[in-house]
Amino acid sequence: MLVYKFPEGFYWGASTSSHQVEGGNYNNWSEWEKSQRRINHLKEQGKIEQLGMENFLSGKAAGHYDLYKEDYELAKKLGHNAARFSIEWSRIEPEEGKFDEKALQKYLDILSFLRELKIEPFVTLWHWTLPVWIADIGGWENPKTVEYFVRYAQKTAEYLEGKVDVWITINEPEIFSTFSYYKGIWPPQKKSLFSYLKVLNNLIRAHKKSYIILKQFPNCEVGIAKNNIYYEAQKNILDESLVKIYRWWWNFYFLNRVAKFQDFIGLNFYFRNKIKWGKVANENLKTSDIGWELFPEGIYHVLKELKKYKKPIYITENGLADANDKHRAEFIVESLKFVHKAIEHGVDVKAYLHWSLIDNFEWDSGFAPRFGLVEVEYSTLKRKPRDSAFIYKDIAQNNGISKDILQKIKKQPQ
Ligand code: BGC
Repeated sequence: MLVYKFPEGFYWGASTSSHQVEGGNYNNWSEWEKSQRRINHLKEQGKIEQLGMENFLSGKAAGHYDLYKEDYELAKKLGHNAARFSIEWSRIEPEEGKFDEKALQKYLDILSFLRELKIEPFVTLWHWTLPVWIADIGGWENPKTVEYFVRYAQKTAEYLEGKVDVWITINEPEIFSTFSYYKGIWPPQKKSLFSYLKVLNNLIRAHKKSYIILKQFPNCEVGIAKNNIYYEAQKNILDESLVKIYRWWWNFYFLNRVAKFQDFIGLNFYFRNKIKWGKVANENLKTSDIGWELFPEGIYHVLKELKKYKKPIYITENGLADANDKHRAEFIVESLKFVHKAIEHGVDVKAYLHWSLIDNFEWDSGFAPRFGLVEVEYSTLKRKPRDSAFIYKDIAQNNGISKDILQKIKKQPQ
């Protein structure tokens, strides 16, 4: 018996991104991982001693470029009817203006395979990594990158014509620009408000322009994947005002700027920030392996906030690092209860794509955090679904949460 039933035709699946799973990439990240500046920083933090240098080199990653069939067959067995993945720009255009047919054909094969399996692809064009030649001209700080991106989008869409119904141009523009240009953590490690704003603005332009190009292809929907945070204020004027500003800047600014250029909103949800006397003061009752607070209720609030855009919403990411699979099943079920509540309150949610399908390379943290529904043993590249993957399977196959699943979750040791 279903206690929480989801709308007919709901998409259930999981997400990945090229650099994090494919392996064998040559791009600005793979080069940065090996740079002296990066190595020195890891040494200073004692990270190499702790985890070994291999942890921080994307290298063969999860080997997904070769093993995609195995991975998607597994996804199918796990009840998924949708999959989000990204195309690696550096493979498609390794040199300026030279488009690699073999790479394009590979993504076409992946898409054909997903179609055969009746898994709906959600395709991201840019998930943070750049061809080295783009990084060399200043990456997203250079307005020329906007034009190059649009051309890459066009070439890719032409080659993959008819196979993609849902395009995500850009993944989490604000996370990328913050970490790469404001906090100075990710390549190119800048700390400049000016560069940060310039990059954000170029990403807005890139999205709008590629939206127009992609919409020339029949029957496709185009949007971005947006990281939104649930900001909660202590009851006082200072915190309430701050929350209004944060919410406007982080959650809405980019969406407002591209409002007329999106057919849906892709929501990536991970964080709540509870603001107390100007500072983040979360309760952290439960946390993931990397210390992120697990607060499933937050997804309800961010979904409600997005209702004003009057667009369908695809949850394009939501998940946690949990190597021992202690919290994942409960987290998924609790989050989905809140997604269901948002739907009941009139939010048009059409997809839930968990982050991630398989364990992967978690950017500057390397392979240590385990986000996968499916575990990857990196020495052999063997895949093994975690128990939570079967709970999710039950939900996906039944298009809802049954009483049985709710009971199972209750019984799980916490
Ligand atoms: C990103 C993913 C990342 C995940 C977990 C999202 O911000 O899109 O690439 O792995 O969060 O940190």
